[in-house]
This record gives sequence, structure tokens and C-alpha cells, in this order.
Amino acid sequence: DLPPVLAIDGPSGAGKGTVAKAVVRALGWHFLDSGALYRLTGLYCQRQGVAPDDARRAAELAAVLPAEFQVAGEAERILLDGDDVSTELRTETTGALASQVAALQAVRDALLQRQRDFRRCPGLVADGRDMGTVVFPDAPVKVFLTASAEERARRRYNQLKEQGADVSLASLSEEIAERDRRDASRTTAPLKPAPDAEYLDTTGLDIETVIERVLAQVRGRL
Ligand code: C5P
Repeated sequence: DLPPVLAIDGPSGAGKGTVAKAVVRALGWHFLDSGALYRLTGLYCQRQGVAPDDARRAAELAAVLPAEFQVAGEAERILLDGDDVSTELRTETTGALASQVAALQAVRDALLQRQRDFRRCPGLVADGRDMGTVVFPDAPVKVFLTASAEERARRRYNQLKEQGADVSLASLSEEIAERDRRDASRTTAPLKPAPDAEYLDTTGLDIETVIERVLAQVRGRL
């Protein structure tokens, strides 16, 4: 039997990462940050001089992505080709790059098995846009997290500010709205809830409540 998967999908700033990490801590499961793989692919294309709409070459790079995830306690370092890109990875510029390469079917195909390989005992928490629909359609628990556009922009803003980034709320809102539009309207693996996902609008909910609800879902299915 395959290890269980909790699939968490939704637009940016919905709280997926925070909820995913809390569940990982509570259950001791593995964690797949699929967005990081698309971000790394976008960055790698940029560094190799490959345009984010060059499907063939972008997919070639995605297939050999020299990425390393290093965990040291609470901190995590992500290396690309030996370079620490942890900070650059989180910028909205990289998010936009990621969303462009993520619209390419060939890139998604190139990253599919790599994502599935994260599924190991005792279980996996997978965070992304198509975890419940494409990558782990058999996941026993699927959650679709969302929140109002204003609240999501504000959360992302606070997150980036905390990391010391110099951003404005107005331009960040616009950039995120455009990225979500592209993610939801693309033909390949568009952002949408799986038919069997629990839809959770977290607007106005505090994060602890959301974490409790998701944990209860998982525990109820084990
Ligand atoms: O979640 P995160 O903001 O890091 O994702 C960056 C981008 O990567 C998303 O806007 C989306 O275009 C793409 N992505 C995706 N499928 C996933 C995860 C992320 O297309 N499973």
C-alpha cells in the first residue's frame, strides 16, 4: 500500500505553506513544496538564458534540476547548482517566472515523477496547485484552501516584509492577481479544487483554527 498523502491546493497566500508545515510537525510526515520546484525551474531557466516560454529547453532543465533541500531544525536552505537561493526563491519576481514555466505541459511532465517520489512512509503533505487533481489524485485527504484576494495579498505582504523584502502592498496585490489568473486559466493542470476536496475559505479565520480542522480531517481518515 502506498503511504497516505494530504493534498493541499489553492491560490497564493491562502495559508497552504503554514498549514502544511504545522501538519508536518504534528504528524512527522514528509513535505513536498511543489511550488519551490516550479520556482527553481524558473530561476534555472533565467540563469541558463532560457526563455520562460521555450517549452523544450525549459523541460530539459526541469528534468535535470540540480536542486537540494537542506533542513537544519526549523530553517531550510534551498540550493540551486550549489548556490543558496532560499531568499531569491520567495520573491514575487521568481513567483511570476515560476507561473510562466508552470504553464508548459512539458515542464509539468518533467517534474511529475520527481514530485511523486516524495511519497514515503509514514506519509506526505503536498502543497501546490494540482496535488489533488494531477500529482496525487488518489490522495485520501484533499483540502482546497482559499481566502479573499485582499487577505491573501496582505498575508503575502507580511510574509515578505518579515523576510526583509522591500515590497509595496499595491503592486504585490496586482502581481499576485495576475499570477493567480494565469494559474487558473492555463489549459494544463489549472488551479481548481479536486471534486473530492474539502473547500476551506480561510478569510477571517485564524490559522490555528484552520490547522485544527485540517488535522482533524487527516486523523479521521487514518
Ligand atoms: O506555491 P508557490 O507560490 O510557490 O508557486 C509558484 C508558482 O508555481 C505558482 O504560481 C504556479 O504557477 C506554480 N505551481 C504550479 N503547480 C504546483 C505548484 C506551483 O503550477 N503544484
